Amino acid sequence: MGERVYVFDTTLRDGEQSPGASLNSDQKLEIARQLARLGVDVIEAGFPLSSPGDFLAVQRIAREVPGPTITALARAVRADIDSVWAAVEDAPRAQIHIVLSVSDIHIERKLRSNRHDVLRRGIEAVEYARSLCDQVEYSPEDAGRADPDYLYETLEGVIGAGATVVNIPDTTGYTLPSEFGALIASIREQVANSDKALISVHCHNDLGLATANSIAAVLNGARRVECTVNGIGERAGNASLEEVVMILRTRQKSLGLWTGVDSTRLAETSALVARQTGLFVQLNKAVVGGNAFAHASGIHQDGVLKDRLTYEIMRPEDVGMGESRIVLSPRSGRHAFQFRLAELGYHLPEEAFARAWDQFLRLADQKKEILDRDLAEIVDGVRVIA
Ligand code: KIV
Ligand code: ZN
Repeated sequence: MGERVYVFDTTLRDGEQSPGASLNSDQKLEIARQLARLGVDVIEAGFPLSSPGDFLAVQRIAREVPGPTITALARAVRADIDSVWAAVEDAPRAQIHIVLSVSDIHIERKLRSNRHDVLRRGIEAVEYARSLCDQVEYSPEDAGRADPDYLYETLEGVIGAGATVVNIPDTTGYTLPSEFGALIASIREQVANSDKALISVHCHNDLGLATANSIAAVLNGARRVECTVNGIGERAGNASLEEVVMILRTRQKSLGLWTGVDSTRLAETSALVARQTGLFVQLNKAVVGGNAFAHASGIHQDGVLKDRLTYEIMRPEDVGMGESRIVLSPRSGRHAFQFRLAELGYHLPEEAFARAWDQFLRLADQKKEILDRDLAEIVDGVRVIA
């Protein structure tokens, strides 16, 4: 079966940072319960210091959602860390997540500080968080654009201070899969105490590479992936949970990695998050998009009707999507047309079928999709003529 990759879901924190996606505490609780049913290992429930409402939402999740580890985000300051701890401490499994920049761009232009002071601040924050909680994650923000030597030094320092997880964020979605994979491999080689902490990754999708970068990372030894349902999150979003899970599952033989997620709940989770956030899923979205298992062209339909392995690498039921769909369109072929007629109970003699097919082609040229009621009219028409 190979090694397990842990799934850290940040839909309720980074995902909720998507413009227009904010959630109230009831909505967050409903999504958190669904994430627990889905089988994620960690739920990042929010950023408690950002508002009293978010503090209460995180606290409710910590108290009412058993199963996954519950974490929340803190900057490397005591007030944030105290607020996270107060919000998550009642969870059976709690974690404090600290973020502090590591790239020179961030250190100089955002923090207006220097490497030495930032590293000291990070170490002190981890020591303080560890005095409260056994599980502390440290995220050196913008690691993807940082000087690797300073990143290694930072990681060694925070692991030495007690960080149990080090999360490597490609905050701006800048890296290429080959670069990000090599960065994870180099961390394992260069950071003397890297075996004392779990290596996690957090990839953004600015160039459409978040999922690919996350997979490159696990191939190079990361064992936790931070991701969101439907890939929502800051700007272009985060690595999409359903893509990461289905890549590891579909390519299990080649990759030798697995997750504890129940993939048959992916579609319902995706629909819930879309409904609650108002961020609807594009039809051609991998794994959970409305067209992910729809076949429209004659060549593909003929193949799928003979054996779905011809054009499907996953089964729709494996992601909770019901059945594959054969869409009747101007590009459909006779095989699909006949198949759908038979499914609807119409078995036409050869001559009537030829006339029906002819009418179908005429109508299909005028409409994007032929519905069952159109088929009924076509069949009625040819029966009257017969
Ligand atoms: O993108 C980022 O760097 C983050 C951190 C808090 C992990 O969201
Ligand atoms: Zn992020």
